[in-house]
Amino acid sequence: ATVEQGEVTWQSPSNIALVKYWGKLEHQIPANPSISFTLDSCRTTTTLKFRKKEQISDDFDFELEFEGEKKDSFRPKIQKFLERVEQYLPFLKDYEFSIETSNSFPHSSGIASSASGMSALALCLMSLEKQLNPEMSEEYFTRKSSFLARLGSGSACRSIEGELVVWGLQNNIYQSSDLYGVRFRDEVHENFRNYRDTILLVDKGEKQVSSTVGHELMNGHAYAERRFRQAHDNLDRLKEIFRSGDLSEFIKVVESEALTLHAMMMTSEPYFLLMKPNTLAIINKIFEFREETGLHLCFTLDAGANVHLLYPEKEEELTLEFIEVELKQYCQNGQYINDRVGSGARKL
Ligand code: PMV
Repeated sequence: ATVEQGEVTWQSPSNIALVKYWGKLEHQIPANPSISFTLDSCRTTTTLKFRKKEQISDDFDFELEFEGEKKDSFRPKIQKFLERVEQYLPFLKDYEFSIETSNSFPHSSGIASSASGMSALALCLMSLEKQLNPEMSEEYFTRKSSFLARLGSGSACRSIEGELVVWGLQNNIYQSSDLYGVRFRDEVHENFRNYRDTILLVDKGEKQVSSTVGHELMNGHAYAERRFRQAHDNLDRLKEIFRSGDLSEFIKVVESEALTLHAMMMTSEPYFLLMKPNTLAIINKIFEFREETGLHLCFTLDAGANVHLLYPEKEEELTLEFIEVELKQYCQNGQYINDRVGSGARKL
């Protein structure tokens, strides 16, 4: 089909890894498999407008708007992304694009927007490809969207679908791939249904270390091989935990993964310490809270100081009270975001 012009809008969520992706090979191939909860309300909305160029040219023609304003600082990232995906989307240089994007979460909150942002853009480009090739199957669309998102930001490939997504080869048991994320299709106990994620905004500052640099530091890292094996083991453990519904075991795996991610950063050359005093204060409070209440609140971390609090739906009321009374004081301007597990991206 020929497509002269049009527009499409996708809303794509962020995700939070339970087994962390940290370390990669060339072409955004992960050094170990990872699994994440897809989030629900932390989302990026992206509108892609496209119009066929009047004169053929050999460059990418795009304009960027972020939350209503021209945003040239994002250009190099998008340019690089388009260069990477062009071989899979050969029509890119035939169009002029305008990309308008906004996030549901506060700007520079320290919440990584690369997963939601890159997945939303990948989906928009796939919608154009689908207009050009209308016979494309749903499955192909989803898979290729994840594949393209991965080339923008590795973890973005886990944001297309919900509720749990595996990315990276693991003994073939998940029919997973290094090239795209797939839904975790095994049995999941009802304890994990509608799981909650409250994100405590501890530090909204610029990231001290980009994830690109971080992943690279795993090359030649003293503990890399052992760590990659551990990720495989933890994914196996989680598979069993999701089946049995064992929340105590879940906590052990998830918190260990978070601390291991930071341990890798603390032991690389150069080393990075991304936790803040308030990050540690929160973690200690969580330990005390569990001890006192027997509830199943646990934490996980990204490559930063913010803390994700994971807990079951049925413990929500008591946990939210604890957050408000005890943890809020450690957040910048008392800010936190209540999110939950979601079902993936949607077209508007
Ligand atoms: O997608 P990237 O390259 O920004 O890497 C993200 C890595 C972590 O967020 C720290 C872990 C993960 O698996 O999401």
